[in-house]
Amino acid sequence: MKKPIHYICTFLIASLLFSCQQKKKPVAVENKIDKKEFSISFDSQEEWGEHLVTILDCHACHTPKKMTDKGPVLDNSLLLSGHPAEMPLIDVDRKEMEAKGLTVARDLTEWVGPWGVSFAANLTPDDSGLGNWTEQQFIIAIRDGKSKGISSSRSLLPPMPWDMYRHMTDAELKAIFVYLQSIKPIQNLVPAPLPPVSAGQ
Ligand code: HEC
Repeated sequence: MKKPIHYICTFLIASLLFSCQQKKKPVAVENKIDKKEFSISFDSQEEWGEHLVTILDCHACHTPKKMTDKGPVLDNSLLLSGHPAEMPLIDVDRKEMEAKGLTVARDLTEWVGPWGVSFAANLTPDDSGLGNWTEQQFIIAIRDGKSKGISSSRSLLPPMPWDMYRHMTDAELKAIFVYLQSIKPIQNLVPAPLPPVSAGQ
């Protein structure tokens, strides 16, 4: 009589163990990030903004480059001052570029493409950059992709990735704006974009 009970117990224990194994492993605690962690990792809003500008790579397009024997490097003396106004227009057959749907960049601050030519803006707090901008204008520029942060103005041209950046939180955008207003102001009046050459034909 003992035997069947023995078998039943073994069966129950085995199925219990099996069902435990089937359960999804809980996520390791160390993989979870405390919600507050990202804002307390930095001493100030400005430092957080600097970090965001670095990892979102605003420099790639908004900081002019210096050519070295190892290739282009950021020109830190012109940090985030946009396409240098004195640089002559890139010498390419724009009609051909547009017809072939090609995009060509020089210095990554000047972009020729099917949309015409766009020049990365001066993001420093000089009057020729974001010096007179309000925080609200900055938020409108990034969230709605509107030039000068004015709702009724034209949409920002490629390759400014505002459509991705628009997903930033208010706190992130504000931190970026605070940082941009704290950097060295550089006078550089970036040229207005040019329409596609084929548009006028
Ligand atoms: C891949 C290139 C690229 C990257 C990366 C980039 N931008 Fe831009 N950005 C541009 C270009 C080009 C323009 C000019 C677009 C135009 O004239 O319509 C621009 C325009 C802007 C403007 C509008 C300025 C004005 O006068 O209306 C703001 C603000 C701006 N960028 C902020 C940023 C910030 C902040 C980052 C990083 C979080 C960033 N951009 C990253 C290329 C880029």
